[in-house]
Order: sequence, then structure tokens, then C-alpha cells
Amino acid sequence: WMIIAGVVLAAYLIGAVPTAVWVGKKFYGIDVRQHGSGNAGATNTFRVLGKKPGALVMAVDIFKGWAATSLAYLLVQWGAVTPDQLILFKIILGAVAVVGHIFPVYVGFKGGKGVATLMGMVLGVHLTAALICLGIFLVVLLITHYVSLSSMTAAVCFPLLLLLPSFRPEEPMLFVFAILIALMVIWTHRKNITRLLQGVESKIYLFGKK
Ligand code: G3P
Repeated sequence: WMIIAGVVLAAYLIGAVPTAVWVGKKFYGIDVRQHGSGNAGATNTFRVLGKKPGALVMAVDIFKGWAATSLAYLLVQWGAVTPDQLILFKIILGAVAVVGHIFPVYVGFKGGKGVATLMGMVLGVHLTAALICLGIFLVVLLITHYVSLSSMTAAVCFPLLLLLPSFRPEEPMLFVFAILIALMVIWTHRKNITRLLQGVESKIYLFGKK
């Protein structure tokens, strides 16, 4: 149990790495939480600082979720959990990383909305579902130009996808965690929802036009 607790803590500390805040402060002397939407995520880094730092933050934040799920292999290797518990612990550790991203200990628990890290987690636990969610995200983004709406749609589609017979997860807990995380992503986007309803949410144009 000590080993499991240590690895859960490691997953949190990985998820909590505040990439957007650190990249902004180190390379631009700017805390992105004081600009744009105020969110410490890839989208707001893109909005405030530009494409390159935005892409960097996105890559690292996705990596954090994937890396946290991969810690489950260590638990199996160290004999702390059995091989048939691998998937369950990937899910738990990935979810812990998403929570870490939203509530990062390094910067006053004011982090991001969990979207990129969730994508990394889903990549680690269900590759096909991850790619389909990514596709859904991109389609909604290209049509509406609202990242928040695209994120919420993709996060909600994840548990729905798992209901399809061919996507049914070997570990039923994935479905439970998928629902909980989708609800959490909706909650982290509560201000975006208000802005969307008022028609004042900012748009992101991936290509050209700002
Ligand atoms: O990455 C989070 C995204 O869904 C919304 O970010 O900065 O537009 O609130 P933002």
C-alpha cells in the first residue's frame, strides 16, 4: 500500500506540473492566468503567447496524462498490483493526473481545465476512443471555433463511446471514471458555458485569422 500511495502521489505531482504557467513565466515573463481567459492551459497560452508556446504546453500537458497512466506498469513490475489490475490502475493514475492539472500544488492550486491531460490519459487507456475523441474535438473546433465547446463535447463523447459494444472497456471502472471526468470537465468550463450562452466566448482560429 505504501508503494501504491507513493505512485499515486507521483501521478498527482506529474499532472500538477503547471506547464502553461512555467512556460509563460520562464520565456515571456508572463503569468497566462492574468491574461485572456485566465486559464493555465494550452488554449490560453496559444491565445496569449502564440502558436509555438501553445503547442509546447499542449504536448507536455498531453504527455503528463499519458505518463501518469504508464506508472501503472511500474506497480505491476514491483508486484504491488497484479497484471489483471493494470488497466484499473492506469485509469486511477491518469484520473489523478487530471485532478493534479486542475489543482496544481506548485502554483497555488490554480491550474487548467484538464482537457489536454485527459486526452493523454485516454491515449494511455483506450487508444481508439482517444483518436475518435480527438477527431470529434477537431471537427467541432473547425466548425464553431470554440475550444471550450469542442473540449466539452469530446469529454462527454468519451463515456458515450464506451457504451458501444466494440468499445466496451475490459475494466468497467473506466466507464465510471469517464463519466466522473466528463462531469469535472463540464464543471471546469462553467465560466465558458456562461460566455457561450451569452455569445461572448472567444474564438480560436487554428489557421490564420485571429
Ligand atoms: O483547454 C481548455 C479549453 O477547453 C478552454 O480554454 O482558455 O478558452 O477557457 P479557455
